[in-house]
Amino acid sequence: MNRDIVCIGAGYIGGPTMAVIAAKNPDRRVVVVDIDKKRIAAWNSKNYALPIYEPGLVDVVKKVRGKNLFFSTDVRKAVRECDIVFVGVNTPTKMFGRGAGRASDLQYWEATARNIAKWANRGKIVVEKSTLPVRTAAAMSAILNTHDKFRFQVLSNPEFLAEGTAIRDLLEPDRVLIGGPSDEAGEEAVRALIDVYAGKDGCWVPRERILTTNVWSAELTKLAANAFLAQRVSSINAIAGLCEATGADVDEVARVIGADRRIGPRFLKAGPGFGGSCFKKDVLNLVYLCESFGLHTAAEYWTQVIKMNDHQQERIVSRLFKEMFNTLANKKIAMFGFAFKADTGDTRETPAGYVARLLCEEHVKLSVTDPKAIENGRRDLADIDGVAWERDPYAAAKDADAVLLMTDWAEYATLDWERIYRSMRKPALVFDTRNCLDAAALRKTGFKVLNVGK
Ligand code: NAD
Ligand code: UDX
Repeated sequence: MNRDIVCIGAGYIGGPTMAVIAAKNPDRRVVVVDIDKKRIAAWNSKNYALPIYEPGLVDVVKKVRGKNLFFSTDVRKAVRECDIVFVGVNTPTKMFGRGAGRASDLQYWEATARNIAKWANRGKIVVEKSTLPVRTAAAMSAILNTHDKFRFQVLSNPEFLAEGTAIRDLLEPDRVLIGGPSDEAGEEAVRALIDVYAGKDGCWVPRERILTTNVWSAELTKLAANAFLAQRVSSINAIAGLCEATGADVDEVARVIGADRRIGPRFLKAGPGFGGSCFKKDVLNLVYLCESFGLHTAAEYWTQVIKMNDHQQERIVSRLFKEMFNTLANKKIAMFGFAFKADTGDTRETPAGYVARLLCEEHVKLSVTDPKAIENGRRDLADIDGVAWERDPYAAAKDADAVLLMTDWAEYATLDWERIYRSMRKPALVFDTRNCLDAAALRKTGFKVLNVGK
């Protein structure tokens, strides 16, 4: 077996993960392939204009690209040459037919499996990196193992990185999860993958942080982990509404809840609700799985996590409506931040997108600014009129009636808010949905200030 690695899918997962695998395994050749020519060209661009923004990513790519990390559109060649094949293609929510709106759309996944089967000239280790429904590995194995002469081992190795902190999460993961079969060949494949994560001379993930399970546990763990995290966000947002109604302060409540070591302080930040490509899709996938196995009460339970999240965004618009004298028509609102969280340009399922659409239905003149997400945002909202995009937050806020902060970019806290106040129509409102600005200072300046959960 050779030590080289190929990853099919050069997206938010494939790109950063393979860059770090290459950096930690200088003695392995790592090739990332994709059918999207534009994406591969961007990964290969001379000036490092990479297709995704992720802090620290450019530095890692600069160190390894052209040495032992390569990006290519020649999927066939890369698959033939390697013995370890990661599959990191997209698995979005299915929008048609059976399971529409909940199940995973596995067409890209299956196309990849069939290609590997078609092109392979020897048995390989195939690693599921994408997030998949439980028992997908069985389907993968059935598609792959139709050859008489050689066999494929299918492992599940879900990725837990979060966008915005991907490089840090990859360099120092809480855990790496590998699910594999318990027969001799399966165990050998698991050992080969452990070796990748150990890094050259054991320079990367300590052995005790590499957890091994059976394949089905690994597949389900990924969905369960995201569902638990999403549920925490919905839980604190459910408390936020009650805080607004009663005079309690959600940040104080969260601080004290989180001091209980059984609960812990992280992931208790009230806000506009969760976005990103994973939480909604993975919770819906879990709901679909529960329903498929007749577990209807469990399905309803997880459905509420999504309902609560949607409600949070509707509540933001309702509060704005009420504070702005029950009419938003022709008022200018400056939206600060469009990415689903800070430190990423990703806008998939961003709460800002949903809120922007609700505001446009009210005939708001919307001016959106974001340090990294303007290009993606412009594409997301291409079908609606009345949205202006501004790189400069001061220009976005000029003559506005309200600033609606949707993303907690650190730079928003250090803006010259007195200057912004002077340039706005009065009364000037700031609705800080991330509770990241100094509300007392803003009030002193003259702003009316709204927060989530206060
Ligand atoms: P993405 O859309 O950014 O990237 C997927 C890539 O796969 C695309 O560039 C697409 O062109 C390529 N692709 C699709 N079919 C192909 C084929 N047949 N051959 C070659 N390339 C093909 O998606 P992503 O965000 O990287 O997510 C990928 C998977 O990883 C998903 O299952 C997701 O749930 C999971 N995941 C994502 C994150 C995250 O933070 N984005 C975190 C954990 C897990
Ligand atoms: C998530 C998981 O964290 C990660 O383990 C998995 O691999 C992919 O899905 P990601 O979606 O990139 O990662 O970002 P995350 O930091 O989890 O944030 C998700 C959303 O929840 C964001 O919109 C964020 O703003 C929101 N959030 C998070 C809150 O509103 N409050 C919190 O306390 C934490």
